[in-house]
Amino acid sequence: MRTGVFTTMQMKRLGSSGVKRGAKGSAARKKDDFFARMDAQGLALAYADVRLRTGHSETPPSEVIMESRFSRRVPLKVPIVSAAMDRVTEYKTAIELAKRGGLGIIHFGMSPEKQAAMVTRVKLYLNAIIEKPICVEEGDTIGSIEEMREEQGWGFHSFPVVDAKGILKGVITQSDFEFSMDAKRAAKEVMTKTPVTAPAGTDLKKAFDIMTKTKKKFLPLVDKSGKLSGVYVFSDVKRVLFGGSESAYYNVDKEGHLRVGAALGVGEGEIERAELLVERKADVLVIETAHGDTPRAIKVLKELKKNFPHVDVVVGNVSEGESAKRLTDAGADGVKVGQGPGSICTTRIVAGIGCPQVTAVHNCEKAVRGYDVPVCADGGIRYSGDIPVALGAGADSVMLGMMLAGTEEAPGKKVVVNGITYKDYRGMGSLGAMQASRAARERYRADSGKAAFFPEGVEGLIPYRGSIGSVLDQLTEGLRRGMGYVGAKTVNELQQKSDFHRLSGAGIEESHAHDVVITEEMPNYGTRRKDK
Ligand code: IMP
Repeated sequence: MRTGVFTTMQMKRLGSSGVKRGAKGSAARKKDDFFARMDAQGLALAYADVRLRTGHSETPPSEVIMESRFSRRVPLKVPIVSAAMDRVTEYKTAIELAKRGGLGIIHFGMSPEKQAAMVTRVKLYLNAIIEKPICVEEGDTIGSIEEMREEQGWGFHSFPVVDAKGILKGVITQSDFEFSMDAKRAAKEVMTKTPVTAPAGTDLKKAFDIMTKTKKKFLPLVDKSGKLSGVYVFSDVKRVLFGGSESAYYNVDKEGHLRVGAALGVGEGEIERAELLVERKADVLVIETAHGDTPRAIKVLKELKKNFPHVDVVVGNVSEGESAKRLTDAGADGVKVGQGPGSICTTRIVAGIGCPQVTAVHNCEKAVRGYDVPVCADGGIRYSGDIPVALGAGADSVMLGMMLAGTEEAPGKKVVVNGITYKDYRGMGSLGAMQASRAARERYRADSGKAAFFPEGVEGLIPYRGSIGSVLDQLTEGLRRGMGYVGAKTVNELQQKSDFHRLSGAGIEESHAHDVVITEEMPNYGTRRKDK
């Protein structure tokens, strides 16, 4: 029998969470020799430089389990995380990604209030019962409610109307807003005064029955005194009851809400930002700075851990083992690796620093091995096959910018050039991003140097790729295939078993399609275009 993404046998073997215990053992691994040999030659390797060795495999790709973690207490059903960039992750990306088992990190190039509102949108997306619904009062005008919706980022249009004591007086729904031409009209003039209600404590199934019978999409619960005690929303009830096979992948917290991360910086006011994000139940805070191994980053990390010990904090970015270790010792719940691999990044060229990503990931993972601190490989992923390579080198998850920036859900604008549709994508250290937000300036320390701006990134276009869903299907299948070839059933096994070949120039050329004129672009190779 299948229970969601696992067979019952698989669940038994793995324990109820599906993640193998002791996943971060400190034992030496096969690949350590490989990297030691490379290191002895002074060689650091990028994704294109290596491929995984295949092994005897009793694991067909369909049986692979992709579960992993982004940080100590934040699991992933699929080890893919979206970059905290203004052209990659706002609430839409985060919702779609969490629905598919991954995690979105909402960027911080906006006010703390706006960012917190985005966290709320993700958190409220899957709400079976809303215990503390947002209510309006009889005297509130349609215009003022609309204004609040905009401000707070509420995606819904149905509100219970209550008096000062919390007694339900009516409900207003989408059609009341639509048919009310005058924004000055008060809620009491447009609301349904005798709405269908159910008693406090009504369960999900009963609520579903009442809602289908009465054809009501919004069901307030009231106690004996008429006081509002909660609300059911039909789309959520349906999704939770019959989410179908898709819902097995939802990356949800203990209350059944989608998980979401939120980024912050190391500048002034970031602790206040964190307070708001934590209040809105962000699952993980991610300190985003171009150089994570600095006293400032460590100070912010320690302050966050002191103020919000129940919330995981991931810190980045670093690319050397000793930096990863220092952050771990300072209390990080996850370390993000990547200095210079990003598609839009010019750091290595303009500042002359950095370590090619596969070696950086391996070095950092090795340095924190045994500490139970997951490593995220951030940037530089160009093909689905780079994901098993990153995880094989030691990462627990990958963070993607470019691979997701071209999707429908990404915040960038669509641009048509010569009939081809693109979306705009830019580095957070690009001129445009730094001019647009203080967050980007801080992240790339633009305010500390002598030059007005010293960009470490570029701005450009990326072919439109359609929905996140279709992109993720290709990426996860690539991971499954890679794990299948290695003979690894779990991410942990992939990390344990992985060993690498180093490719020569001819090897790289041989690996790619060659000697043919490609007439059809494949969805997982080259730049996928969707011209609409
Ligand atoms: P990509 O997936 O290769 O596009 O890389 C995305 C990653 O690049 C992000 O998650 C950041 O770590 C990094 N990044 C974002 N903006 C910049 C920049 O302007 N300069 C350098 N690195 C950047």
